[in-house]
Order: sequence, then C-alpha cells, then structure tokens
Amino acid sequence: MTANEYKEKIDAALETYFHAEDFPFWGLADSMRYSLLAGGKRIRPMLVLEFCRIAGGDMEAALPVACAVEMLHTYSLIHDDLPCMDNDDLRRGRPTNHKVYGECTATLAGDCLQAEAFGTILRSTLPAERRAACAEILAGAAGIDGICGGQYMDMIWEGQKLTYDQLNDINNRKTSALLIAACQMGVAAAGGTEKMLEAAGQYAAAVGLAFQIRDDMLDVLSTEQELGKPIGSDAQEQKNTFMALYGEEKCAEMVAKLTERAKQVLREGFSDFAFLCELADSMAVRRN
Ligand code: IPE
Ligand code: IPE
Ligand code: MG
Ligand code: MG
Ligand code: MG
Repeated sequence: MTANEYKEKIDAALETYFHAEDFPFWGLADSMRYSLLAGGKRIRPMLVLEFCRIAGGDMEAALPVACAVEMLHTYSLIHDDLPCMDNDDLRRGRPTNHKVYGECTATLAGDCLQAEAFGTILRSTLPAERRAACAEILAGAAGIDGICGGQYMDMIWEGQKLTYDQLNDINNRKTSALLIAACQMGVAAAGGTEKMLEAAGQYAAAVGLAFQIRDDMLDVLSTEQELGKPIGSDAQEQKNTFMALYGEEKCAEMVAKLTERAKQVLREGFSDFAFLCELADSMAVRRN
C-alpha cells in the first residue's frame, strides 16, 4: 500500500467512532471527533499497519490497534495545546479543541480519547494475548515513562538551559515513546518475534528523535499555513528545543544521520522494508 492508501484506510476507520447520535451527551463526542478527524498525517497508525504486515500479520485485524494509537495521540495533542500547557490556538489547520469547546470539554475529550484507545484495543478481534500485549505497550508509552512523564519534564524545565541528555530524555518520553509503541504494537498484533520487536523499537527510536528535531525546526522555519499550527510557539513558551540548542544546520545533520540509522536497523529483523525506508526519508524532509 502507498502512504496515501494507508491514510485513506485509517481515516475511513476513524470516521466510524464516536458518532454524536450514539451518545446522549453529544457535545463530548463532537469534540472528540472534531480533533480526531481534523486530518493529521496518521504516521503512527500507518506504522502499526505496516509493521503488522511485514511481521506477517493480518492488517485488517490490527486496524483497531491503529485507530487506538491515533486516539491516544490526538488526546495528547488536545492536552498539549491547553492554556495550562503550550497555550496554542491552532492545530491541524483548525482552532484548537479548547478554543471551540472550552477548556473543560477539551480536557474531558482528551481523557475520553485516552480511555477509548485502550477499550478499542481490548475489544478488537485479535487473540486475547495479542490484545493484552498491545495494551501493555500502549500503557507504557502513555504513562510516566512516556507522554505524561515527557510532558511534565518539558514543562518543569521551561526556561532552563538543558544538556543534550536532558533534552533527549524529554523527547524519548514525549514523542519517541508513542512512535516506538506504534511500531511494536504492529509486530505484537502480528504475533511477531522478539527480534522483530527489537528492530521495530530501534527503528522508531531513531525516527522518533528525528521527528521531534524536525518538529522543532518547523516551529521556526515553516509557515502557519503550511504547518497547520502556530509558528514561534516554542520560543514564546521558553521551551527547550533542539533548534534552540543546536541551530538549523546541526539539526538537519542530526535528522539525516538518524534517518540513515533507522533504515539500517530494519535489516536486523525484516526483509520487506522498502515502505518504511521511504516513510523515514519523507518524515526527514516533511514540511508539516
Ligand atoms: C505532533 O505530531 C506532535 C509531536 C509529537 C511532535 P504529528 O506531527 O504527527 O501531528 P499530526 O498527527 O500530523 O497532526
Ligand atoms: C508535543 O511536542 C508532544 C506531545 C506529546 C503532544 P510539541 O509541543 O512540540 O508538539 P506540537 O509542536 O505542539 O505539535
Ligand atoms: Mg508541547
Ligand atoms: Mg505543543
Ligand atoms: Mg512542536
């Protein structure tokens, strides 16, 4: 499948969740769908499906797992934009969730998307032990060693000068963890081997760091229209970013090196990895 075909498949599956008419308190479902269906790049669900495929699994059976990772990611974006966090007004080319629905509903929409992510995995038709493995992987990426821990560090260290290791520590939790989880859930949904899990994790760790470095670059170099989110938000919030610490040239160099590493490590566990190499390349030069 091409990236566009994957995206269409994922968008169509996501469209089936949280229809307002199924819920009496429809405003909450509306706000969840508003952010979930706002048209993200769908990189994480794509990674679930492709890793499932190359690990020899049934992509259709893994589709709920792919949707779940996008639900959890969307929750993290809604909360990341709140006034108490990054205080941003634009996301995926639209006003942020709290700008439309208010802070209280936006907070609940995020909470609800997180809970529903786990429910979606646990209700899937995958064998029980694979469902449990996927839920456990996702929990690790969402909790204290994942997004929540990373977002906390990102916040408490605002305005302080950090070392590379500290910045890397933030990134591993707030961004790489979920990308690693996406790749490894794909393998787990297929019942893949330890060697595959390890290679998937290493690919995603390299791609994950490159992804956040590129995100930090775009916050400075892109335009609001192209990026679909505000420019200069990091400087305004006195964030520690790779761009602030190393500048454009060094960041571009790091992204290129990490992308090469990501492509190399796939060889350790897989043979059919052309799509994932192309995806890593396209993420390295992405404009949004
Ligand atoms: C943005 O993620 C948040 C980061 C982890 C840097 P994406 O760049 O994947 O956002 P969407 O899903 O395409 O909107
Ligand atoms: C956020 O990093 C990572 C998340 C867990 C959402 P950023 O704060 O840099 O993400 P953007 O730039 O707002 O998408
Ligand atoms: Mg943030
Ligand atoms: Mg942000
Ligand atoms: Mg950013």
